[in-house]
Amino acid sequence: MNQSNWILSQRAHKMNPSVIREILKVTEKPGIISFAGGLPSPQTFPVAEFQKACQTVLESDGRAALQYSVSEGNAFLREQIASWLPWDVDPAQILITSGSQQGLDLIAKVLIDTGSRVLVETPTYLGALQAFTPMEPRIVSVESDEQGVIVEDLDRKIGTGSDRARFLYVLPNFQNPTGRTMTEPRRAALVAKSIELGLPILEDNPYGDLWFDAPPGQPLTARNPENSIYLGSFSKVLAPGLRLGYVVAPSIIMPKLLQAKQAADLHTPTFNQRIVVEVLKNGFLERHVPTIRELYKSQCNVMLEALETEMQGLDVQWNKPVGGMFLWVKLPEGMSAVDLLPKAVDRGVAFVPGVAFYANNPDPRTLRLSFVTATADQIRTGIAALAKTIREHR
Ligand SMILES: Cc1ncc(COP(=O)(O)O)c(C=O)c1O
Repeated sequence: MNQSNWILSQRAHKMNPSVIREILKVTEKPGIISFAGGLPSPQTFPVAEFQKACQTVLESDGRAALQYSVSEGNAFLREQIASWLPWDVDPAQILITSGSQQGLDLIAKVLIDTGSRVLVETPTYLGALQAFTPMEPRIVSVESDEQGVIVEDLDRKIGTGSDRARFLYVLPNFQNPTGRTMTEPRRAALVAKSIELGLPILEDNPYGDLWFDAPPGQPLTARNPENSIYLGSFSKVLAPGLRLGYVVAPSIIMPKLLQAKQAADLHTPTFNQRIVVEVLKNGFLERHVPTIRELYKSQCNVMLEALETEMQGLDVQWNKPVGGMFLWVKLPEGMSAVDLLPKAVDRGVAFVPGVAFYANNPDPRTLRLSFVTATADQIRTGIAALAKTIREHR
């Protein structure tokens, strides 16, 4: 037998399989109603528009669309994005990335040293924890409630001297995993506190356009752009398979992000950017996004009604999201969502245990439900099965 000469880096040892992906394998059995995935509804993907755009681009501009291009991204796309953002953004501040997930990875490389303190919400987006971890930070959870980060806790968590936090990672709108949204007073208080403490903010906003009845408050970055980095994405308003996102960064950070981007993949695929430019012509998103909002709002209402009906007398709590794709459930005292999952899968329904989303001190009673990929009938059947499982095992 050949002896292996490969030696893994210490960094590689820090990378762990995503708990969620491991869990999702169990839920991929045929016939399972899954509330576990973080996928947008494929019903919302504008397939016909993409088909037309591919044809047009290949006919009119095919050779350029298939060539290498600049690392910053398509100039027209960057101008479009700058014009949508609700504060004054120079397109030179925008870097097109291969999904906002790549933005998280590049930012980690540029801002985190071994041992650097990084603050996150409780709970937070698992993919951000995965992107930060190989850079070996010390990730510290800031206490949070239904309105987001508890501002006073920042005084306790900021750290001192060389251990002062590099940044706070925060998702103000329809957060993944909880679905919660920061209220206006909380946004104002958080920005004021971050200015007082000199704490930079990394704001991740892939769900902000998916509001049900009213748009969420102004982005945190709009209030303090020099000390904030903003992440946006086309995954939830067009299609995640494009792998198209963007970073808005202050001019002091941008050159380093660009160098990290060049090292990672030279640039985001020219073709995908060019197609999206074509699809976005003539105000497509203004017509398309309201249809996604309507679908997700009605799916969310079906799930809330099903929870109301099925969970009666069970001491289960849940929130009422005002946008996005997820809601957050808390099981009765003493129950564990990790233990409940295989039993729920036996009954034909899956979810993600909340423990996956905590940097420190996970709450075993929590779980995340997506309301966007199952049909209304599946939502009713799935929630009934979940309630039955809880009733049997509480
Ligand atoms: C909060 C958050 N940030 C970033 C991402 C990554 O999105 P993408 O890379 O598709 O833009 C996701 C994906 O689900 C997410 O939920």
